[in-house]
Amino acid sequence: MADGNPHLHDQSDPIDEQHVRGKFASRLGFMLAAVGSAVGLGNIWKFPYITGENGGAAFILIYLACIAVVALPALLVEFSLGRHGQTSAIGTYRKIAPGTPWWLNGLMGVLAGFIILSFYSAVAGWVLKYMIVGIVDGYGTYTKEASGSTFGAFIVQPVAPIVYQFIAMLLTSVIIYAGIEKGIERASKYLVPLLGVILILLVVRSVTLPGAEAGLAFMFKPDFSKLNATSFLNAVGLAFFTLSVGMGAMMTYASYVGKEVHLGKTALQVAVFDTGVAILSGIAIFPAVFAFDLEPSSGPGLIFITLPQIFAQMPMGRLVGIAFFFLIFIAALTSMISIMEPVVTWLVDDLNVRRHLATASAGVAIFLVGVPACLSVDDASVLGGIKIPFFGGSLKFFDLLDTVSQNFMLPLGALGACLFLLLAWKRGAAIAEVAGTGGNTNSGMLQLWYWCAVTITPLGILALLVHGVLGMIGKG
Ligand code: TRP
Repeated sequence: MADGNPHLHDQSDPIDEQHVRGKFASRLGFMLAAVGSAVGLGNIWKFPYITGENGGAAFILIYLACIAVVALPALLVEFSLGRHGQTSAIGTYRKIAPGTPWWLNGLMGVLAGFIILSFYSAVAGWVLKYMIVGIVDGYGTYTKEASGSTFGAFIVQPVAPIVYQFIAMLLTSVIIYAGIEKGIERASKYLVPLLGVILILLVVRSVTLPGAEAGLAFMFKPDFSKLNATSFLNAVGLAFFTLSVGMGAMMTYASYVGKEVHLGKTALQVAVFDTGVAILSGIAIFPAVFAFDLEPSSGPGLIFITLPQIFAQMPMGRLVGIAFFFLIFIAALTSMISIMEPVVTWLVDDLNVRRHLATASAGVAIFLVGVPACLSVDDASVLGGIKIPFFGGSLKFFDLLDTVSQNFMLPLGALGACLFLLLAWKRGAAIAEVAGTGGNTNSGMLQLWYWCAVTITPLGILALLVHGVLGMIGKG
């Protein structure tokens, strides 16, 4: 605007001057947004297939323990730091410990958000495609013989998956563009309850199938002989991922919350809902898998290869299939906005970019990294032949982004946050932040939280990191 007149640029620009940060209008809105973030592909895609691969009920038990002692305390560390800082993750570290290098942990989070979203959006695109398949053609052709190859042929296509990925990124960006209250809070208020309703309908459909009992037994009768050390580490990793911990996403959401909110209560609610959705997703999936005599341990293809075979055979299968993929898409969308928001908040708070421009540029940049990710999903993909050396082994670009972010950046980020709590922040300040203005700072639960967050939680994360490194070396 004021090209010839530098004065108009600096302090006197009314928009810069106000630079009003958005805010969640209500405690419920914040809670639903955080639940929307937590509930995602991790619950409905990863949790069932990892449970399937690790033998069912016994794995679920360790998973629950990991949520309680590792992921939930870490979530609360992020919540408290974020609300205390009232700014981006990077800015928060800078504010609490000025002049120290801790802000690098925030920077790694922003980068991790960028990376995770670039491949998460690809998978969200597949979900969208499978929903549209149901609407347009139904799942009739997804037979035992054809389902796997149909999926395999779809994900290696050079154009279609990218178009779906683009749509997923566009929807995410539109919500972010509209702001915290009008975008994120409003979308979460509609989508999260809708997700709950669809999920419950699907559970009812699944458990009323003849032969459903075997699936319920698989989920609820533990067989500890199926467990090994890797199951434990899978459980820690999944617990983190599913509560959206490690990259400052929850920190960023909490930076938009009023001081009156008790963060401990909200974190507990988020964990309960998130775990509930994971278990219900299992109940929506395994009884059906067993009723149709399919494999529970088919891995990442569980929802894309195994489930369509069920939809092809079961009464009302087409409708159920469409509802199922719609459910997963909503879950993915409300998670994607939380992965993107830290990047946008950083551009706005630290680099003074206007929110709309920040959203557009982050959206485009993430999509551009997403394209090569999408094109390197499989060995047969366009870029699938390109292998990037990593820890003595080599990985396709998609796997590199996935591995680096989930096995390294998230655990490191969460470890950093816990160590920051221990070394750079004051115990009393942290506990007061969690309790909020009306909360009781002497509560035993809060003391227990602090103790966990500086002992068991970082140790659990450390185990995960070491496992990640050893696993990579082993593969090389
Ligand atoms: N929790 C989401 C899921 O279960 C994914 C997610 C959203 C996430 N935001 C995150 C994971 C931040 C790690 C960090 O699918």
